[in-house]
Amino acid sequence: MKAVVNFETMKSQQVIVTGGAGYIGSHTVVELIGAGFEPIIVDNFSNSHPRVLDGLERILNRKIQLFDVDCCDESALNGVFESCLKRGNIAGVIHFAAFKAVGESTAEPLKYFSNNIGSTAALLATMHRHGVGSFVFSSSCTIYGQPEQIPVDETAPFLPAESPYGYTKQACERLISDAHSAHAELNVTLLRYFNPIGAHPSGDIGELPLGHPNNLIPFLTQATAGLRDPLTVFGNDYPTPDGTCVRDYIHVIDLARAHVAALNWLKDQNHACEALNLGAGNGSSVLQVIEAFESANGISVPYTIGPRRPGDVTAIYADAKKAKDLLGWECKHSLQEALKDSWNWQKKLEHKS
Ligand code: UD1
Repeated sequence: MKAVVNFETMKSQQVIVTGGAGYIGSHTVVELIGAGFEPIIVDNFSNSHPRVLDGLERILNRKIQLFDVDCCDESALNGVFESCLKRGNIAGVIHFAAFKAVGESTAEPLKYFSNNIGSTAALLATMHRHGVGSFVFSSSCTIYGQPEQIPVDETAPFLPAESPYGYTKQACERLISDAHSAHAELNVTLLRYFNPIGAHPSGDIGELPLGHPNNLIPFLTQATAGLRDPLTVFGNDYPTPDGTCVRDYIHVIDLARAHVAALNWLKDQNHACEALNLGAGNGSSVLQVIEAFESANGISVPYTIGPRRPGDVTAIYADAKKAKDLLGWECKHSLQEALKDSWNWQKKLEHKS
């Protein structure tokens, strides 16, 4: 275990953020600081870039403690907890660290099972050993597959997973809820993300996929910047108004704020375990996203229509009422704002690389 960055002050409300150098993790670190928490990043950069730390430092004007640790390594995690507990209490753990590429998970299922499920088990065991009770888990709407009804709420059943990635999210939710049943101190939120997009308005942090992007927005911004071939729209023969798939896009800042709200909610609970949808509550098709991007940024997106991508669901968007009722949280940013921030991030990125 290597503590990479030392820092001077430590408040008592430490929050361990696994995958804190990743896309959603880094934005959550910013929001945690704003809310008076002390985030501690645990990340081994297997799917993120250390330059994220420079962006965080520019936004926050300070360093964040980082442990360069593999979350499957229980003994190293134990060292992280011991080191934090020497300095104060641990208010909770937010577990982002996971692999998330659907296609890659089909090619390398072992990697996904061992990393995504192994890290969750190791983390829960370490929390239990140290009596840390508040756990916020990064889950995904992928667990619903193509739900019978949209908007989908949290009572919808898990459908058979289309990919090993999706299966690991279902398995982790099961693992966590079994641990919750067995361990009285555990309070949990299972946050089921819809499609996070956007970036910090400063353009200092954003989505930084390593290599070829799999998700729509990073591909779209890189294609628009001329760094990739034109975007391929994966199918226009779906039973949707314009034939392209419908998703619920949510600004990453709104998503990050939901984690702060979840932590604040958890501290008042006595043995809770709740699944919560985090989405804007409305659907946009791929063509609508392209149009919104063009009008928000005054630039045209090069694209072609291609065949369907295997495993894509036709349409899904969230009923996010439960998150509003329980956490008092809802999305504040529009699709256009998110797409403006995504483009701003892409432009700044080019200047830095
Ligand atoms: C899926 C999962 C999500 C998961 C994510 C991880 C569902 C409903 N969502 O997101 O929970 O966290 O994978 O990566 O299962 N598209 C194109 N061209 C592209 C890229 C994407 O047309 O080059 C389209 C897709 O067909 C889809 C939409 O854009 O309709 C969004 O795709 P993407 O960003 O990859 O996210 P999901 O597949 O929805």
